[in-house]
Amino acid sequence: MPAIKSSACGKFILVGEHAVVYGQPAIALPLSSRRITLYVEPQLLAPSGKIKVFFPALGLDGEPVDQLPSNHPIYRAVWEVINYLSLSQSPSCDLRFNSQLPIGTGLGSSASMAVATIRGLSEFLGHTLSDAVTNELAFECEKYVHSNPSGVDNTVITYEEPVFYQKGQELVSLTPAADLHFVLADSGIQKSTGETVSGLAERYQADPALIKPKIESIGQLAKSARRAIETGNLAEIAEAINQNQRLLAELDLSCPELDHLVNVALESGALAAKLTGGGKGGHILALVKADRVETLLQNLITKGALNPFHTVIRGVI
Ligand code: PMV
Repeated sequence: MPAIKSSACGKFILVGEHAVVYGQPAIALPLSSRRITLYVEPQLLAPSGKIKVFFPALGLDGEPVDQLPSNHPIYRAVWEVINYLSLSQSPSCDLRFNSQLPIGTGLGSSASMAVATIRGLSEFLGHTLSDAVTNELAFECEKYVHSNPSGVDNTVITYEEPVFYQKGQELVSLTPAADLHFVLADSGIQKSTGETVSGLAERYQADPALIKPKIESIGQLAKSARRAIETGNLAEIAEAINQNQRLLAELDLSCPELDHLVNVALESGALAAKLTGGGKGGHILALVKADRVETLLQNLITKGALNPFHTVIRGVI
């Protein structure tokens, strides 16, 4: 029996993180060049039900899956698949992951682990699941990783296309009118999304009159960015990104290191820059014209960013 291979991309949120948790729309883009890949290798001689996890970037070297923390995306995804297929256990196998996606830095690593696991294990079990079911199960996993996920991460990662996402609304796939070039850069600070989401929830509860209008304004920016993406209006996309960063900073979701990288990007000719994901650390994104990419990468490295890289979202022309 040969190994089964599956994979899932990363993601970055262009406009609307956090506001999307409160029912506002957000725009999320796939990071197809940064993937988590999984090989499921059958262990025919092992007693049934033994699943071992190998994931060098997480320091996992053959740990039984049931000894991972119960909120770990791989543990949850295995459990979700077995439950969904109404099995009592899985035949024994090794789950061998490798990741080009930085972990825990706002690029969707937990949802990507869940989607890769759901795809690989379900195929191994002879029941390849549809994208709709994969997305549903990955959302269940996300609920354990942080308690109140909007569902945007698992959705963009499952479908691997630019999306305009709003909780409870039909998903809208976006087709950019022109190529969009981005540089992403890591601040080097790891912050749990669960903590930033619950921190904002507390502030919202304490002072809704202050927080609600900012959340609604972010939703408006997602709508204007959607129009601008579909018509190829780079200046309007840039304006939405910059305004979104201002609002995220006012919501206390930025930090000095992210502000520094945003400023470096803007001073290096980026059209716009903001934090992306849970905030208080993790990555920034910068929207940039193709001919400024190299300068921006160099300047970010010189000014302390970790592993900046270029990614393109292809347009129709
Ligand atoms: O930090 P990440 O990649 O998990 O992104 C989280 C996005 C939030 O809007 C902050 C949370 C959510 O569930 O949508």
